[in-house]
Amino acid sequence: PHARQTLDDILRAHAADEGPLLPILHDIQAAFGHVPQAVVPVIVEALNLGKAEVHGVISFYHDFRAEPAGRSVVKLCRAEACQAMGGDHLAHHAERKLGVGFHETRADGKVTLEPVYCLGLCACAPAAMVNGRLVGRLDEAAVDRIATEVLA
Ligand code: FES
Repeated sequence: PHARQTLDDILRAHAADEGPLLPILHDIQAAFGHVPQAVVPVIVEALNLGKAEVHGVISFYHDFRAEPAGRSVVKLCRAEACQAMGGDHLAHHAERKLGVGFHETRADGKVTLEPVYCLGLCACAPAAMVNGRLVGRLDEAAVDRIATEVLA
């Protein structure tokens, strides 16, 4: 479907909602895989909000992406239980092995690395999610395997 048509449909679907901004942004991300810059002025006009407000919400919620994601998405847990189990060290290792920093996508588009704040897998910390698959008890070898998989 035409992008503008999709966007209009989403805006219309939430026209009667109270506090429609978040559901609209979620729908946009579901439809386009990210929240493109170009939708902001359209939302601003449709909802009669300030531009700064809309940008603020997009950047506040870790779930929203301003750029299309890579082919794979690796989310590494950066919350407390995982930190306590060597999460920092693993995070650096993952950045090195994947060749990308947090909140970034590799130039070749192979992988996006994102922090998450608890995957509910604290008992198996440190934890990650690789393309929707939960991985617990991460160590360097496990990170290496993930890198081999997503960079193949
Ligand atoms: Fe990492 Fe809960 S703190 S899974």
